[in-house]
Amino acid sequence: MVKLWLNILIVFTMILTCSFASDCIECPAGTYSNHSDISCSNCTAGSCTDTKDCVPCPPGFYSADSGQEACFECERGYNQSQPKKTECKPCPVGTYGNKTQLLLCELCNPGTYNNITGQTECVPCAKGKFQSQKGRNQCLDCIKGRVCNETGCDVCTLCQAGEASQNALYCNPCMPGTSTSGKEGYSVCVGCSAGTFCSDIGCKVCDDCKKGEYSPYSSSKKCLKCNIGQYQPKVGSRECLPCDPGKYQIAHAQSKCINCPPGYFCPNTNSGPIDCPDNAYCPENSASPQTCQALFVPNNASLARYCIPDTILYVTVAISLAMVILIVASLAFAIACRIHKNKILKIEESKSLLPSMRKPVKNPDYQGL
Ligand SMILES: *[C@@H]1O[C@H](CO)[C@@H](O)[C@H](O)[C@H]1NC(C)=O
Ligand SMILES: *[C@@H]1O[C@H](CO)[C@@H](O)[C@H](O)[C@H]1NC(C)=O
Ligand SMILES: *[C@@H]1O[C@H](CO)[C@@H](O)[C@H](O)[C@H]1NC(C)=O
Ligand SMILES: *[C@@H]1O[C@H](CO)[C@@H](O)[C@H](O)[C@H]1NC(C)=O
Ligand SMILES: *[C@@H]1O[C@H](CO)[C@@H](O)[C@H](O)[C@H]1NC(C)=O
Ligand SMILES: *[C@@H]1O[C@H](CO)[C@@H](O)[C@H](O)[C@H]1NC(C)=O
Ligand SMILES: *[C@@H]1O[C@H](CO)[C@@H](O)[C@H](O)[C@H]1NC(C)=O
Repeated sequence: MVKLWLNILIVFTMILTCSFASDCIECPAGTYSNHSDISCSNCTAGSCTDTKDCVPCPPGFYSADSGQEACFECERGYNQSQPKKTECKPCPVGTYGNKTQLLLCELCNPGTYNNITGQTECVPCAKGKFQSQKGRNQCLDCIKGRVCNETGCDVCTLCQAGEASQNALYCNPCMPGTSTSGKEGYSVCVGCSAGTFCSDIGCKVCDDCKKGEYSPYSSSKKCLKCNIGQYQPKVGSRECLPCDPGKYQIAHAQSKCINCPPGYFCPNTNSGPIDCPDNAYCPENSASPQTCQALFVPNNASLARYCIPDTILYVTVAISLAMVILIVASLAFAIACRIHKNKILKIEESKSLLPSMRKPVKNPDYQGL
């Protein structure tokens, strides 16, 4: 109890002394009056004097040492989101600070990056690279078939059909003989397949060879024409077909062969029809003339011609027939004569034996001619 009263007395005495003493001083900037002490104390680091008292530095400010008169603002590229701090931190990678007194650093925008801390701005992606996300510390290479020809790309552009890119900077049109098969985003143009072609640069698709044309190799700039003696009825072919025997073609690049007409023959598929020889006949599609069998001759009246029996044949057949009839007739006559003679002989014989030798005839032969 006595101690308490003593303390009260001391404080009261101090107040009296201060208020009446002329040497009572204000604490200087950066210090404050510690009431348990008569002297002035330095404000701790992270705080500063606000007239009579120490106050913590607000966010965006710092105080590195004790006894500071004022807090310092965070410089550009640095930030501090907490109060009463002794330092501001450099903005981390992927962020930047382009203002003072910054609490939070800004994230780098898409198309930019920062791989170093404490930056006041982000770096645009180099040509051929991109960054689609915010707050990144690097840009990525455009994938093949996509390009970025300027800095700061947030996306790489797809190469169009008929173009391709390897270098991530430019899409180059396909060379003749190649295409992208109608698709986008190619890194290399692909050679036209056999049977197709592309004559220009920048082909989206290769075209089929026309009927009567062909392309045996890939990467063709043009198709070849079918030779004479050949044909091709379909588009997109890698070869021509030979004309069938009996047909011909004397023009190039044809889709069909021509039938050898009746009355002609076509020994070669690559040359024109030849007149049928006189002693032969040639129906349509004859590769060679046909000869008639013996005793037949060509029928000249018909264009196609065919074999008809020779006049000699008619005569021969007629004579032969007549002779056969004559022979058969004479033979028959001869036989008939013989039989008749025999009968007469028998009758005379039987007459001479009569009457003693005569025997009854059971089945008398009345047969005769
Ligand atoms: C006042 O000073 C004393 C001794 O120097 C110290 O122990 C105390 O923490 C200080 N008080 C404040 C509020 O700073
Ligand atoms: C008080 O602050 C001043 C100014 O910064 C400094 O020179 C001094 O050493 C500090 N005193 C103590 C005890 O920290
Ligand atoms: C800083 O940021 C502001 C918008 O926040 C912008 O307008 C300005 O151009 C930026 N300055 C720099 C140097 O980046
Ligand atoms: C600075 O800003 C970044 C990004 O907003 C944040 O993550 C970081 O905590 C901040 N630093 C400080 C010390 O507050
Ligand atoms: C930052 O990026 C640049 C460009 O990509 C590179 O040259 C440099 O080495 C990188 N620095 C660090 C620390 O990663
Ligand atoms: C970049 O490419 C675009 C189209 O992708 C084109 O319009 C522009 O001219 C190109 N810029 C340069 C510098 O080549
Ligand atoms: C057709 O003509 C040839 C010669 O011109 C001749 O030898 C042949 O007998 C003729 N054929 C007929 C059936 O007239």
